[in-house]
Amino acid sequence: MPDKQAAAAIASGLEGIEAGTTSVCSVEQGQLLYRGYEIHDLAEHATFEEVAHLLLVGHKPSTSELAAFKRELAPLRNVPEWILDVVRRVAPKSHPMDALRTGVSLLSHIDPDVADNSLAANLRKAKRLLAAIPTVIGAGQRAIDGKATVAPDPSLGHAANLLYVMTGERPSDLIARAMDVSLILYAEHEFNASTFTCRTIAGTLSDMHSAVCGGIGALKGPLHGGANEAAMEMLKEVGTLENVRAFMDNAFATKRKIMGFGHRVYKNGDHRAPILREWGLKLTKERPQFRKWFDIGDAVQKIMLDEKKIHPNVDFPCGLTYFTMGIPVPQYTPIFVASRITGWCAHIMEQHADNRLIRPLSVYTGPAKRSWNG
Ligand code: CMC
Repeated sequence: MPDKQAAAAIASGLEGIEAGTTSVCSVEQGQLLYRGYEIHDLAEHATFEEVAHLLLVGHKPSTSELAAFKRELAPLRNVPEWILDVVRRVAPKSHPMDALRTGVSLLSHIDPDVADNSLAANLRKAKRLLAAIPTVIGAGQRAIDGKATVAPDPSLGHAANLLYVMTGERPSDLIARAMDVSLILYAEHEFNASTFTCRTIAGTLSDMHSAVCGGIGALKGPLHGGANEAAMEMLKEVGTLENVRAFMDNAFATKRKIMGFGHRVYKNGDHRAPILREWGLKLTKERPQFRKWFDIGDAVQKIMLDEKKIHPNVDFPCGLTYFTMGIPVPQYTPIFVASRITGWCAHIMEQHADNRLIRPLSVYTGPAKRSWNG
């Protein structure tokens, strides 16, 4: 007989369950810390490359370590033409997350360390993926736009180069830093759905590329990373400040989720959201025509807080900020990948370094034992 009592006792969605240990990241009293460094501190004082080094190598880089890290990453941005060719072919007919997943899968075929799960090989693979992912994203977007692929610029940082390969234009310092901060905020978040997916795949002793493909699949969903796209699409649907009240009334009446709001871990607000909102607002000083979208967002946020006590998560200001940068909405979640690849790879390395298969049990709720022949 199905054990209904046991089923009821299971935390739905594994809410509140500690499913393993990690030294990569923690959430302490609502604060997000990467290896002990709090997210406000990192967003204010670090660059994305420094954070990537912190997550992947395990410590804050010295000046010379950072320079060496950047020198190592720059040539790894180059991706063979045959891979970019496949990406260019599929991109115009697919969601960019699907094209990116295919690109990462193809990268596994040229990686000399693909089947080696040692720490040293995993670190080499993580750096290759970190450097190559923007090139794949850029080739896909340029194909969608009917334009030639732009070769990565080794003189640019990760964030500026990501924008450059997508648009063909070098971003202003302000836009590059706003993107850099968004990548810092997105880099890591302990056992979120995509990272847990990566760890589960790595836990079978499968390889890093396979785990990252799984992570991309999990991140794509609108309840996870896909929320940054969904939030902006929703705001476009609202359209005007005057329409906010009617939109929200209808959403509440039809139990429609307001995208970019709510969080499994942060019930009193996601600390990353105000940081990114501030950066988005800075951009509107140079691009005042986008200010209207922040006003609409603020009105939605006020109603959500006043009437539902639900706060925005980082994906809400992210949608607004990337929109202000002029980035096509379907690229918001791939950009999330260009950052979260660091957290995923850090967790995959940690899993491989001290592995035990992840294999929980389920509580059966189907029919009781019966005979096939009746
Ligand atoms: N809009 C409307 N109601 C909401 C929302 C929302 N965005 N989020 C939560 N609620 C309600 C929910 O309906 C439930 O109400 P009730 O108790 O009456 O059924 C209550 O709040 C508790 O929510 P929950 O669904 O039990 O919360 P959860 O921890 O299972 O889900 C969540 C968390 C993030 C999936 C959910 O808040 C959600 O769907 N948000 C919208 C999608 C989104 O923004 N996702 C991004 C997540 S954070 C960053 C990232 O991963 O990229």
